[in-house]
Amino acid sequence: MNDNKNYKHETSLDRVAGNGLLSRRHLLGLSLAGAGAAVAGNVLGAEAPALSMPAWSRSPGRGPSEYGNPSTFAAGIKRLAPPPNATLPGGGASRTPLHLLQGIITPNSLHFERHHAGVPDIDPAQHRLVINGLVRQPLMFSYEDLLAYPMESRILFLECSGNSGGAAGPTAADTSAGGLHGLLSCAEWTGVRLSTLLDEAGVLPEASWVSSTGADGASLGRSIPLNKALRDVFIALYQNGEPIRPEQGYPMRLFVPGWEGNVSVKWLTQIKLTDMAANFKDETSRYTELLPDGKALQFTFPMGTKSVITSPSGQMTLRRQGIHEITGLAWSGRGAIRRVEVSADGGRSWADAHLEPNQLELALARFRLPWLWEGGPAVLQSRATDSAGNVQPTREVFLNTYSPANRYHFNGIQSWAVSAQGEVKNVYA
Ligand code: MTE
Repeated sequence: MNDNKNYKHETSLDRVAGNGLLSRRHLLGLSLAGAGAAVAGNVLGAEAPALSMPAWSRSPGRGPSEYGNPSTFAAGIKRLAPPPNATLPGGGASRTPLHLLQGIITPNSLHFERHHAGVPDIDPAQHRLVINGLVRQPLMFSYEDLLAYPMESRILFLECSGNSGGAAGPTAADTSAGGLHGLLSCAEWTGVRLSTLLDEAGVLPEASWVSSTGADGASLGRSIPLNKALRDVFIALYQNGEPIRPEQGYPMRLFVPGWEGNVSVKWLTQIKLTDMAANFKDETSRYTELLPDGKALQFTFPMGTKSVITSPSGQMTLRRQGIHEITGLAWSGRGAIRRVEVSADGGRSWADAHLEPNQLELALARFRLPWLWEGGPAVLQSRATDSAGNVQPTREVFLNTYSPANRYHFNGIQSWAVSAQGEVKNVYA
């Protein structure tokens, strides 16, 4: 380990909370090196060695290609996918490697997946979307038909309500940020507002619910209230600029901003207007939250106010003492993120992390805070507050609200312990 301890003599570092948390102003232009802190780069002496010219600078590289791929040196950045499940063909989930990414946008190839019966290979020329039920005139649309409608684009997160369920379990799993929280992604989604199509179909006054069904082998179905469907729900056709991926519902999916991922029905084939919820198997036998008295909550739609530190995070090792950036993601299904606080002493003291101004509603927010690690043990935590004033609860408060068997909608504060050797581990603080 590199033990550059220059910073120990430095008084101009602005400490804002316990165990080494430094002011956001150190991120905002005031150089840490200028403040005398240890830096990650190598300081060159006056006799700097001449750099030798590497092989790739001495000859032309590969020519242009039709569809790009990441560098082979970055090939380790992959979704975290379990081995295929023989008893449930195509079913299961793969997670976004949140700890290996930066910013807020998830590249399409790394968007998490959750399929109940695998990914159907749908020919868009044969796929149809039907709108029926309590409407004046039932309608049918081809993919081509939908492409002709006016579209809108929004940057939005998608989170499975089973995300982070492992953090509600009895023992703290030895895993990474992506392994624990990676049923979460954020993309720019483009599509046609559902209200536009419902206007054409003519919603009858008795209608109060909208049920949607997918064309996959699971025939996944979910109901949402009509007022949400008219407010901001759309049929997504594009994801980060290109047609949505088969894993995300190609050729079309419902997108329900801020709500549990399960209601954003993929491979969308039917929308039916009804006067009550359809009570599909996917909203009765699962996707309900068990309470301590044995009853269950149904239709818990918005995702909770939540944050996770993506670096330093589980299974990483800090290789040197000195300044590290604590960074992570925060989001809420009830608005925009207004504040993220970070603790390095297990919640005894907190400091405000840096957030870009004007955070987007129902999108991920990236937060950052400089941290001086002096080689001692630490417990890193983050706590988000949204624009509606909701504050992320502690793990204990979350667990007391539900049955110990509940694994849905976990949004408690999570802890990464840093050992004196710099090893970072998921713990229950
Ligand atoms: N829609 C259909 N038709 N079939 C499915 O299995 N999975 C749901 C939802 N829509 C699913 C579906 C669940 S549980 C989630 S969390 C999201 O899709 C996941 O979307 P993604 O795979 O694009 O990340």
